[in-house]
Formats: sequence, structure tokens, C-alpha cells
Amino acid sequence: MSRSKHTIAANGHVGRPYADHGAMAFPIFQSSNFKYEDAAPYVATLNGGPETKKFKYSRYTNPTEAEALRILCELEGADGGVLVGSGMAAVSLVYSTFLRPGDHVVISENSYYRSYSVLKRSFERIGVSVSVLMAGADLTDLLTERTTLVHVETPSNYLLRVFDIARIADQCRAHGALLSIDSTLATPINQNPLAHGADLVVHSASKYLGGHNDIVAGVIVGRQELVDRLAQEKGYSGASVDPFASYLLLRGLKTLAVRMAHVNASTLRIAQELRELDGIEWVCHPGLPEHPDHELAGRYLGGGAGILYASLAPGRGSNDQTVVDFLDGLEVCVIASSFGGTESLARPANMEEFPDHPRLIRFAIGLESAQDIVDDVKQSLKRLHA
Ligand SMILES: Cc1ncc(COP(=O)(O)O)c(C=O)c1O
Repeated sequence: MSRSKHTIAANGHVGRPYADHGAMAFPIFQSSNFKYEDAAPYVATLNGGPETKKFKYSRYTNPTEAEALRILCELEGADGGVLVGSGMAAVSLVYSTFLRPGDHVVISENSYYRSYSVLKRSFERIGVSVSVLMAGADLTDLLTERTTLVHVETPSNYLLRVFDIARIADQCRAHGALLSIDSTLATPINQNPLAHGADLVVHSASKYLGGHNDIVAGVIVGRQELVDRLAQEKGYSGASVDPFASYLLLRGLKTLAVRMAHVNASTLRIAQELRELDGIEWVCHPGLPEHPDHELAGRYLGGGAGILYASLAPGRGSNDQTVVDFLDGLEVCVIASSFGGTESLARPANMEEFPDHPRLIRFAIGLESAQDIVDDVKQSLKRLHA
């Protein structure tokens, strides 16, 4: 029987072997090491034969991790994947597995700054060249005979730019380059990049997938032959994830679909209401018709996104003081970076990156009532302009 994403997320465990005990929650296999029942397969492996044991040592994988991965693969429509210790470990593992000295990599503009800066810091040093794909630009203008990897974050962490995955995937395929999509902001509920032709999907599981601000983890899923290479590289690099984090991820996944349904609806409503307020100059959310990627957001994300940016009107003091006073005046939203947990967060956008918007605030909407968040913004603006 085919199952919807809501059912896979909420009830992905039905019929698994551990259900023999009637346990509704998957156990935490707090074991680094796993025994061989007999010596013959071990000897065969050491003589160059294939590894037949599924769990051997938890640097490679662990049963709790494998269960979380199984559900994520089902949600993304992937053959397999690897779970690692952070979203950045996932992004870096894609780079270190598929980039060699002399290669050229393309990364999309407004990506999470560390996904870009690790290319500049660590990969340029070993002779990899880096280009940036601007939103709306043609990828083919950037491709060279050395381009092996295109890494696109969509929607992007900064200003929520949305990229045309199917078109970029066609161009990559024609050129023989791999396409990896960082789909952290979308989650598998809003978007399935593999279905549009991407080769790999990366998520920071520290955000919506975990969903409670209590784990740091990352995941990559895709075709089996690519995943096998990533798994091997993970074993060498040691970018492992802890069994307890895997358990919390499994627990978070059970509510992913309902959390995203709330966040999608709530964020759009908040964006619509904030743009009517006097103290707000401008609001950025791809569900608003004035967003430059509104049409693409409808096509790829159903218009959904849990983040919005709002630019404050000038206050009485400097721009920085206006931002500080506004954030300090919030009573419901928490001043913090990251996103994807139950609490709504507000933080200054990176000022250096947006010189044209010196009073830009990023809101990551959580599970509170949308009206309470709008009221919170209103009361802080009122104090700011009192
Ligand atoms: C889009 C995106 N990718 C990757 C990362 C890195 O994830 P982590 O913090 O789990 O290392 C982040 C973190 O904010 C992100 O926003």
C-alpha cells in the first residue's frame, strides 16, 4: 500500500523487527562495537571479500541511525543515504567525496555562508576553483570542462531565493556534473529534489528534521552508487553521528509533517500581516507575490517556507540601535540564530552581507500561534517608536 508523507513521518515504524517486543519507540543502540557470530565472514572480508555485516562499528553506522535514515530515504524517495554529525559535515562530505584538485565547483548565491566559505578556505587551497550561480542566471554560462559538482541551496538561507531544480538538473546531466541540493529550508515535506532530477539531497537535520533545537546532525540521500562513495568517505573522515542524536532525530521525524504544515501556513500569514505595519519597510517571503521567485516557490515548494525577513523602518537612534532595541523588545520571539525548532526566533540578518538593508531582521517561525507573533512584533515596534 502506498503511504503519504504524513503517514511515513508519523507512523514510519509499523512492522519493523523491534516491534516483536511491542515497543512503539525505536531503541537507542548505545553500542560502538558489534560482534561477529562466527569467524568465517570476518576472515573473508579481511581477505578482500565484500563486507557482509550491516553493523560493525558505529563510526560507519548504527541501528538507530539506520532507522532514522530509512525514514528520511522514504520521505525523499532515495535509494540510500548517510547520516553525519552536522549539516556542515554533510555539505563538506559531498565536497570531499566528489571534488579533486583541478575540479571546478559551482555554488548558488545566498547559500549558508559556511557552505561557501569551506570551499574558499579548504578546497581552493587544494586547487579547486569556485564560481557562484546567481539566482535567475543561466548555469551553462558558468560550466567549464572541469566542472564536476554544482551545489544549490534552495530556498537559500539568505533572502529565500528559489532555484529551478529541474532546469539546473538537465543542464548538469548534459554536462556530466553532479547536482547536490541543500534542501534544509524546505524539508522533504515541502520539496523532493530527487524527483526533479537532482543527484543528491543534503539537509542540516539540526533544523526542522530534528525539530526541537536539541540535536546537531546532517544527512545526505541519493542514488545508491553515490551513497556508497559517501559512506566510504564518512568511514575515513569520522563524521559520525551519536546514537542518542539519531534517536532524537527519529522522534522529531514523527511530527515533521504536522510541524511543517503549521509553519508553512503561519509564516505566510505573519509575512502578510507584517508587511502592512507602519514600522516595517519591507518583508521578504517567497509566498508573497512581490518576491522575485514567487512563481518558482509555487512550483517547487507549494509557496511554503518557515523563514521571513523584515526590514525595520528607521528608529530614533542608529541602525544598529534600532535593531538592538527591536530585538530586546520582543517578548515571545527568542533572540537566537538557527531555525526549525518549536520556538520562533529573531536575529539580525548578517549586516555585512546586506548593506542595502541595515535594519534587516530574520524571523524563523515556530509552533506558537501566528497571532501571538504578529502581536509581539507590534508591541516591540510600538515601544521602538513611542
Ligand atoms: C541551509 C543550511 N545548510 C547547512 C547548514 C549547516 O548545518 P549545521 O548547523 O547542522 O552544521 C545550515 C545551518 O544553518 C543551513 O542553514
